Formats: sequence, C-alpha cells, structure tokens
Amino acid sequence: MLPPKVPIAIPLATYRMIKSPYKLFTECYKEYGDIFSLTTIAGNFVFVSDLDVIKDIFSKHSKKFNTGETVLFLEPFVGKHSLLLLDGTEHARQRKLLTPPFHGEKMKMFTDLMREASHKMVDNWKVGHTIMMRQEMQEITLRIIVKSVFGEEMSRRTPEIIETVRGVLQLPTFLTFLPFLRFNLGKWSPWGKFLVWREKIDKLIYEEIARRRANPRPQPEDVVDMMMLSQDESGNFMTDKEIRDECLTLLFAGHETTALSLTWIFIPLLQNPDVLKKLVAEINSVVGNSPVTAEMIPKLTYLDATIKESMRVNNLFPIVARKTLEPLELKGYEIPVGSTVAPCNMIVHHLESIYPEPLAFRPERFLDDSHHHPYSWLPFGGGNRRCIGMAFAQYEMKIILASILPRIELELIPGQDFRAKRLGLALAPPTGVKVKVLSLKPAPSEVLELVH
Ligand code: HEM
Repeated sequence: MLPPKVPIAIPLATYRMIKSPYKLFTECYKEYGDIFSLTTIAGNFVFVSDLDVIKDIFSKHSKKFNTGETVLFLEPFVGKHSLLLLDGTEHARQRKLLTPPFHGEKMKMFTDLMREASHKMVDNWKVGHTIMMRQEMQEITLRIIVKSVFGEEMSRRTPEIIETVRGVLQLPTFLTFLPFLRFNLGKWSPWGKFLVWREKIDKLIYEEIARRRANPRPQPEDVVDMMMLSQDESGNFMTDKEIRDECLTLLFAGHETTALSLTWIFIPLLQNPDVLKKLVAEINSVVGNSPVTAEMIPKLTYLDATIKESMRVNNLFPIVARKTLEPLELKGYEIPVGSTVAPCNMIVHHLESIYPEPLAFRPERFLDDSHHHPYSWLPFGGGNRRCIGMAFAQYEMKIILASILPRIELELIPGQDFRAKRLGLALAPPTGVKVKVLSLKPAPSEVLELVH
C-alpha cells in the first residue's frame, strides 16, 4: 500500500511547495497524519514527520537513498562536483575532506575573525538610523566564510567576492527551482544576468587557484590549500574545476543560511523583551567587559537555547530530501524506487506533543532538552548528509550575538510583514527585518585595541 496521496494538481502543488510550504504542510498533516505523498513537477514526494521513521531514514536506510539527485537544479550555482550534488563513495570522500575545518579546535581558530567582524559592523551603525538586519548579517557572514575558506591573503578581494556572490543570488526564486524556465535572453534578462555574475565569480576563484598552483604552500593554511593538497586512493589530486565547485558550495551554503538564521532571531528577541533582558544579563555575566573567547561559549547556555528555539520556530528549510534507490517500506507503506522521501522538519518543529504551544517563543524549552527525541530538532538535516557547517554556524551565531547584543538597543520598525517568504532556497522574513538603532555602546576597550 502507498502512503495517502494529497489530491492536488501538479502545478498547484509545485506552486504551494515553493510559495507557502508552512500552510500546505500544516493542512496536509491535519488531514493525512505523519506520512503522506504529493506529486510536484519534481516528481513524487513522501513527507514524513514520524520521528522514529525519520530516524530510520537518516540511519538504517541511509544507503538506500541518493541525495545529490534531489538538488540537481543547483548545478549552475555550485557545479556538478559540489558536495551537495555528489552521492556514494565520491560524496563520502569529499565530505571527509571538507568537514574538519568547520569543527572543534580548527573552527575555534576563527573566533577572532568572527568577533572583530561583529564589532566593526556595530561601529558602522548610527543612533537614530534604520538598518536592515538581513543586509548586515549577509555582509558579515560572507566576510567570515570568505576568510575561512580562502584565508587571509584573499581578503583584499573580499569586496569583489561579496559583490559577485550578491549578484549571483539575485536570481528570482522561480528560476532557482524551475530549470526549464532558464533562458539566456541577453545580459538584462534574469538568467543572462546570472550567467554574467557567475562568470565573474569563476574568474576570481580560478585566478586564486592558478596563483596558488604557481606558488604552492607545503603546509595547508586554509580550506583551499587543504583541497589542493588532498589526493584520492589512486593518488589523484583535485582538479581546478572540482576545487572551484567546492569553493562555491562553501560560499553559498555557508553564508546565506547563517545570515538568515541570525536575521530571524531579531524578530522574537525584539518582540520578547524579557528574553532579550535575560540573554543580555547572561552575556554580561559570562563575558563582562572582555572580548568574547572560545572558552566562554559553552557557558552561554541561554544563548544556545535562544538560537535553537529561534531555528525551531522559524524554519529556513521546510524539508530535507532523499531519493529512493530501491523499494522501501516506511511505516507499513511501500515507497517505490525514484520517490523523494522528505523528513519534514517544519512539521516536526511544530508538533504540539513535543513543543507545547508550538508557535510561542520559549528558549527555556532547550535549557534541558534531554527529554527531547534525538530527531525532534532538525534545522541541519541528519545522517550522512547532515550539514557540515552545523557546529560552525552555531558557533558563529553565538560569537556574533554575544559580541553585539550588550552594545546595542534596537526597535523593530512597525508595520512589517514577518510571514516567511522564499528567498532562493530558504525561507526569509520578506522585509529583511528593519530596525531602528536606539542606542549604542562602544566595544570593550580590549576589543577596540584589537579592532583598530
Ligand atoms: C544556520 C546555518 C545553516 C543551516 C540552517 C544549514 C542547513 C543545512 C541543511 C538543512 C542541509 C541538508 C542536510 C540534509 O540533507 O540532511 C545542509 C547541508 C550542507 N551544508 Fe549547511 N546549513 C547552515 C550553515 C552551513 C555552513 C556555515 C556551511 C559551510 C561551512 C554549510 C555547508 C553545507 C554543506 C556543504 C552541505 C551539504 C552536506 C552533504 O551533502 O553532505 N552549511 N545545510
């Protein structure tokens, strides 16, 4: 028996999945429960919100799926050698190479970079001015990922990289998801413009690779060096094209996501002054008048809970997807080969049974999350495809928020629509979250010495 099928015509199902997934999924969940199927232009999807079934998808059944196949529409952004698009042994090999720099001690090496970028950002703000948080957060996260991937030497070209990445990301959402609508009608057409920007960013990256090939460094100093020195089992090095694809993957996957998560967080924080007060009090007591350091981060438990709660309430990605390579049984239903099985974090994060009053913003839920099911918090996906930047992104958000929150007093500009809208792949607040700066404090004196 197949899972219950939602009777919506393919064009409407496709439109609703892109435009308003929350409404679609909550309606379907109410009607059909924790497993149901829906056919869109991209094929047949089976949406799952039963936690034990999700666990099996991520663990027991993981070899029965391809994941790269579900995001082939991303190829023009990141290239066919991107970790996002690979599957099988090639995926496992690349993942092993790209994961370490974004974890543990290596990740902590970026603390100074993250903290200084945060203080510089606030130093540019002016009391009484209105700023758009999405823009600020995009700029800072892009600066951080560029330096983390390309190292210090490339930083002189950071403004160019920022400009080209922004250019590429201007592509309208429907062209991101629907490849058959991509026509190059000259450099003023949306797809034509995209190709021009992509050529510019390619040029920047290939020039950097060529520069390094001409002057190889014996010891890797950044992620690009690591890629250039890595060899597969047969002793082959990565080609320029492969390195370019992974650079683009890290640039795209590694900044917009963190930027939007940070942007979202300002809405509940500014709408819940008690939470903000408690958070700033925790930061002040742990950090005091010193620069934020790696050792302080584990002590900021309320900050950790606030980030988790914000990512639960406002989902960046409503689902993650896996394509079945062989027939499969899930919850007694037969899932045919070629179906896309989609653990639906958006539904899971709003299950009343796990998160009572799910729309309420309560970081306290995560102060003791030992009673939560291990698969009930899924903003970073799971299993062998779980986001490689999960630790890095949360660390970065903590350093940024712990550095800036004690220095700023902000107010949301009234009348903004905070209902999530698609911005490329992710869901974003449509106005970019405009805030007025009410007051500003200088950075702690030790930081001022470091920054200037
Ligand atoms: C808050 C920020 C972020 C969110 C919400 C996020 C979310 C995700 C999600 C949902 C996936 C798919 C997981 C799955 O299919 O199970 C993913 C994959 C990925 N993410 Fe992130 N991500 C974030 C930050 C980052 C950062 C900072 C980096 C780079 C350092 C990064 C690099 C990647 C890569 C390379 C993959 C593909 C992994 C694979 O296929 O093996 N992400 N991310």
